[in-house]
Amino acid sequence: MGEARKRGVAVKYDALGGRIYDLRYTEEQGAKYEALLERITPGTEDIALDIGCGTGLLTEQLESQAVGLDISASLLSTARSRLRGRARSYLIMGDARVLPFRDSSFDVVFSVTVIQNTPDPLSSIEEMKRVGRARAGVTALKKAFTRESFEALLREARLTSIKVLDSSGLNDWVVLIDL
Ligand SMILES: C[S@@+](CC[C@H](N)C(=O)[O-])C[C@H]1O[C@@H](n2cnc3c(N)ncnc32)[C@H](O)[C@@H]1O
Repeated sequence: MGEARKRGVAVKYDALGGRIYDLRYTEEQGAKYEALLERITPGTEDIALDIGCGTGLLTEQLESQAVGLDISASLLSTARSRLRGRARSYLIMGDARVLPFRDSSFDVVFSVTVIQNTPDPLSSIEEMKRVGRARAGVTALKKAFTRESFEALLREARLTSIKVLDSSGLNDWVVLIDL
C-alpha cells in the first residue's frame, strides 16, 4: 500500500518535470526557505540534508556541504543541472521513510513541503530525527495538516523542542526543531 502510494507520488512529479515545477513553485517555495534560513543557517563546516529536495532549489542556497535526496528521477535530474559545478553538493535517489544514512550523520536536516506526500509521515519524521544531530527545519502543507495535527505528529516522534513559526502568508506550517 505504502509502496504503491510512493510510486504514485514519484510518477506524478516525474510527469510534471523539473522545468514546470520550477516555473510554478520557485517563488512559493522561496518564501519558505527564507523563513527557515533566517533562523537555521548551516555553516561551511556543517553538513546538511535536504529531504525531498525536488529540483534542488533549497539545496542550492546552502553554504554548507549538502546532500539532497528525492524519489523523483525527473526532479533530481533538474537538481543535478542546477548544482553542477557547485562544490560539496551531492544528490541521491531515496525514500524519506528509509534514509540510507547512519544515525546522527547531519548537523542540519531540512524537509520542505514533503511530509504530506509520504505514505507514512511518522516514519519519515522519525528517520529525519535519527539521521540529524542538531537542528531541523520542516514544513508541511496546511491543507494536509492542521497546526495541531502537525505538532502532534512531531511529538509522537518524540520531538519535544519544536517551534512553529508564524507562517501567515505561507501555505505551509514552518517548524524549527532542536533534535
Ligand atoms: C512539493 S515538492 C517539494 C520539493 C522541494 N522540497 C522544494 O522545496 O521545492 C515534494 C517533493 O517531495 C518528494 N517526495 C515525495 N515523497 C517522497 C519520499 N517518500 N521520499 C523522498 N522524497 C519524496 C517529491 O518527489 C517532490 O520532490
